[in-house]
Amino acid sequence: MLAAPAARFNGREKCFSRPLFLPIHSYDPEEKMGCRIVGSMNQKGGVGKTTTAINLGAAIAEAGKRVLLIDLDPQAHLTRGLGIDPVDLERSMYDVMTDPRGQLDPVIIPTKWRGLDIAPSHIDLSGAEVEMVPMFGREARLARALGDVPSRYDFIIIDCQPSLSLLTINAMNCSTEIFIMMQAHPFALEGLDKLYEVYELVSEQMNPDLLFSGVLVTMFDTRTKVSHEVVRKLKADPRTSHVLFETIVRTNIKIAESQGAGMPVIHYDVECHGAYAYRALAQEVMSLDLEAIRRRDNEVRAGLSQEGREAVLGGEPEGFKAEDNSPQTDIRTAETQPIATDGVADALRKHTDAA
Ligand SMILES: Nc1ncnc2c1ncn2[C@@H]1O[C@H](COP(=O)(O)OP(=O)(O)O)[C@@H](O)[C@H]1O
Ligand SMILES: [Mg+2]
Repeated sequence: MLAAPAARFNGREKCFSRPLFLPIHSYDPEEKMGCRIVGSMNQKGGVGKTTTAINLGAAIAEAGKRVLLIDLDPQAHLTRGLGIDPVDLERSMYDVMTDPRGQLDPVIIPTKWRGLDIAPSHIDLSGAEVEMVPMFGREARLARALGDVPSRYDFIIIDCQPSLSLLTINAMNCSTEIFIMMQAHPFALEGLDKLYEVYELVSEQMNPDLLFSGVLVTMFDTRTKVSHEVVRKLKADPRTSHVLFETIVRTNIKIAESQGAGMPVIHYDVECHGAYAYRALAQEVMSLDLEAIRRRDNEVRAGLSQEGREAVLGGEPEGFKAEDNSPQTDIRTAETQPIATDGVADALRKHTDAA
């Protein structure tokens, strides 16, 4: 693993000198690393996106960094997992996403844990996509809402909903990096092609600075063959082998319990292996510098080319087909996705039509 030039992520002086409203995507990538904006993604549900956003964020904050968690899932599990009841809130990400001039700053509230803030979600967010249909620049709504918020944080982690929706595209559009969570489960790799294609579309058409930096295996069960098999496949697949985090999060009931108790597992039970795993992941994530992330992204892009895949695996490998019939997966089609009318959303529709 590469050594961590901590100063890279502490470009505060640079950040504070930014104008209040930046034109979108005019950031100098070096400066942008002053605040890493990470989208926690996978269009499958129940793979550990929210759990990772909460616990990675909490562990990074515990290490002394300033962290903002953005809950961009109408289910509001991240919000509730931090002991906040969305019903009690005056403002939420719904207001940010549906107001054409909405700003993120007024929505942010501190959590009980030092260095850890949250922009909470609300069930109303489920209607946001429909309300955003006539909105100008709807795919960049979140990017425009950021304002100077990134200058106040070292990390912003965006918890996405389990679909390749307009909200998820908004998250990709303003992120500097993408993490994919993968449950150690037989269907783990299904849908990966679609997710990569949307990532490629967004990085080609909207956010050229977007880098693919990590795949995290969660809910790994050391006793089962299938868990080991999934990791073996991820290590063999050129799309994932170079970006796999060394840290693997094992199944741990304390993690599920901690969410019920409304707190990060690292504070709920400091000694459990889930807490150790998320602390180790935080160290691994913080140790990546821009150069390392770019290298990882290049490896993924090379792996995405058919030639790259064939060179390593001799064609489309078993279990890596693009069809996605997992019952856990919610890939929106043109029929069900009202926003798919232009821009990347249109390209996404064409893609899903063709698939
Ligand atoms: N490592 C783990 N061990 C045990 N339970 C877990 C673990 N990671 C997540 N869970 C539980 O699995 C469920 C789904 O996780 P979640 O993070 O909400 O997935 P997603 O956000 O991808 O839908 C939750 O009930 C969560 O508490
Ligand atoms: Mg979730």
